[in-house]
Amino acid sequence: MLKVENLRIAFNSGGSAFEAVRGISFRVGKGESVAIVGESGSGKTVSAMSITRLLPPPPACEISGKILWEGEDVLLMKQKQLQKIRGGQIAYIFQEPSASLNPVFSVGYQIAEAVRLHNPNAKDAKAEAVKALEEVGIRNAAERYKAYPHELSGGMQQRVMIAMALACRPSLLVADEPTTALDVTIQKQIIDLLKEVRKSRNMALMLITHNFGIISGLCDRVVVMFRGKIVEEGETPQILKNPQHPYTKALIACIPRLGQKSRKLSSIDYSKIGVE
Ligand SMILES: Nc1ncnc2c1ncn2[C@@H]1O[C@H](COP(=O)(O)OP(=O)(O)O)[C@@H](O)[C@H]1O
Ligand SMILES: [Mg+2]
Repeated sequence: MLKVENLRIAFNSGGSAFEAVRGISFRVGKGESVAIVGESGSGKTVSAMSITRLLPPPPACEISGKILWEGEDVLLMKQKQLQKIRGGQIAYIFQEPSASLNPVFSVGYQIAEAVRLHNPNAKDAKAEAVKALEEVGIRNAAERYKAYPHELSGGMQQRVMIAMALACRPSLLVADEPTTALDVTIQKQIIDLLKEVRKSRNMALMLITHNFGIISGLCDRVVVMFRGKIVEEGETPQILKNPQHPYTKALIACIPRLGQKSRKLSSIDYSKIGVE
């Protein structure tokens, strides 16, 4: 479904170029769940954004390689085609749900708008929005439809974001650190919710995280990024049991359990683990 080949992403500013992603290749199959794991700054978010060309246009940002979506190169697509994919086929949720929600509209209205945008023929966008709220485990969905973002907790807001993403029936959901900003007790609920909707919708998931602890049971495969490159890739149980790259080993060694506060990855001393 998604095939990324030798992707390179460079940012240009003030005459100097910085290569954030340095030739990565990976795939996400239909209904498959893939984790992209790596420390902060390793290029996970920019890689995810490039899939629907959400990065600044050249010369500020230069992208090369191939991003094949259902066999067609996203990097060569016209705006119209891109619009269809964005949100409609590939949806995103991000770390800060409050930053993605509009504070002046009710959450239900915002979901209904997303439904209308991607399916102009939808007979009853409001009813679909209520259904979406129910699907993400929000009780009294018809009542909650009218709530404004600030009236909801961070966990509830993230559920709303998931509802909004699902309302457009994407075949791939990109979840970029979806639990990082949440209270530790809420993290597990959101991960469980992602597990459920992935199964019930047979939807592919690309889960971006710096936390190895949340991926087992949720992701079939893991891609480990380190400083703009993929250093390791494999089935989740196999990587967890037998990591090969020193960086992967270090990441696994500091897995925070769900429900516990994560240890900062900056505690990894790269010179000690033999990574340049
Ligand atoms: N718009 C941008 N302009 C310049 N540099 C950027 C931009 N966006 C991201 N970067 C840089 O690209 C690198 C990778 O960033 P990012 O993909 O956000 O990392 P991650 O998501 O793995 O934490 C970082 O060094 C970041 O500073
Ligand atoms: Mg990021």
